[in-house]
Amino acid sequence: MKKIVIVGAGRVGESTAHNLAKAELCREIVLIDIKEGVPQGTALDIQESAPIFDFDTKLTGSNEIKAMAGADMVIITAGIPRKPGMSRSDVLDTNLAVLYGIVDEMRKSAPKAMLLMVTNPVDVLTYAAWKRSGLPREHVFGMAGVLDSARMASFVAMETGFSVKDVTAMVLGGHGDTMVPLTRFTCINGIPIEHFLSPEQIRKIVERTRGGGAEILSLRKTASAYDAPAAAIARMVDAISHNRHHILPAVAVLKDEYGLSDISMGVPVVFGECGVEKVIELPLTPDEMAEFKRSAAMVQADLERLKK
Ligand code: LAC
Repeated sequence: MKKIVIVGAGRVGESTAHNLAKAELCREIVLIDIKEGVPQGTALDIQESAPIFDFDTKLTGSNEIKAMAGADMVIITAGIPRKPGMSRSDVLDTNLAVLYGIVDEMRKSAPKAMLLMVTNPVDVLTYAAWKRSGLPREHVFGMAGVLDSARMASFVAMETGFSVKDVTAMVLGGHGDTMVPLTRFTCINGIPIEHFLSPEQIRKIVERTRGGGAEILSLRKTASAYDAPAAAIARMVDAISHNRHHILPAVAVLKDEYGLSDISMGVPVVFGECGVEKVIELPLTPDEMAEFKRSAAMVQADLERLKK
């Protein structure tokens, strides 16, 4: 990719810009934010690390949404974050208005760009972005599952003491309290975690994964997670820019997969240069499917608010 635009130069946007630049995932990164001087200063700060980290990516900042012109990908992190005690859905109305402004500009000046949604509530806003943009569903997706699965893998590594490099975890569903950490698909070097952990230990890992974002927020009080989210975004961009055909859990617009349509939520997806190449339908047990459907119902409830 030549140009990636990150809208929102808060902590997530900043960390994302840094990760993408260091990995040279594109030639040019433009950070856009309404706060005067902030995207410019952030871009320059990261640019000045280039001689040390040895990257050629060019970074600039702008207060003009029009600076997204010609982008190959637009990553949306703008919006108000949750405060302690707020759910991801509590910020829906404000963030929806912000999103529509961005998508409307995309239609004019970056009509071919893919859209990676990060702002919460991410499942609903991915759907809203897709509807508003008129883009094919392959080009609109959201970051959630890579982050949730990374949290789960971290907790499994902490609990077992094994290398996190051996852990693969899989979390589907909505990015909220009803997310579905799939323990059956969570392994340590191919060995299911049941072999190493008791049902009680696994239950605690599942709970901690579901509350992973809230745990960081309650510790920091004023800032949500940003390092792990930015790493998750970079993983998705890497899969696309290198056309890796990488399987990652992500928020995708569904069309009959898992018996659902006209909704977007977390499912395993194959990412390549065209974005979402395929949604993978896992053979879920009746219990897993029931949890997945319960999560879908929560996302659907937010979608109803959106359609009003
Ligand atoms: C989290 C926010 C980004 O999970 O939703 O930390």
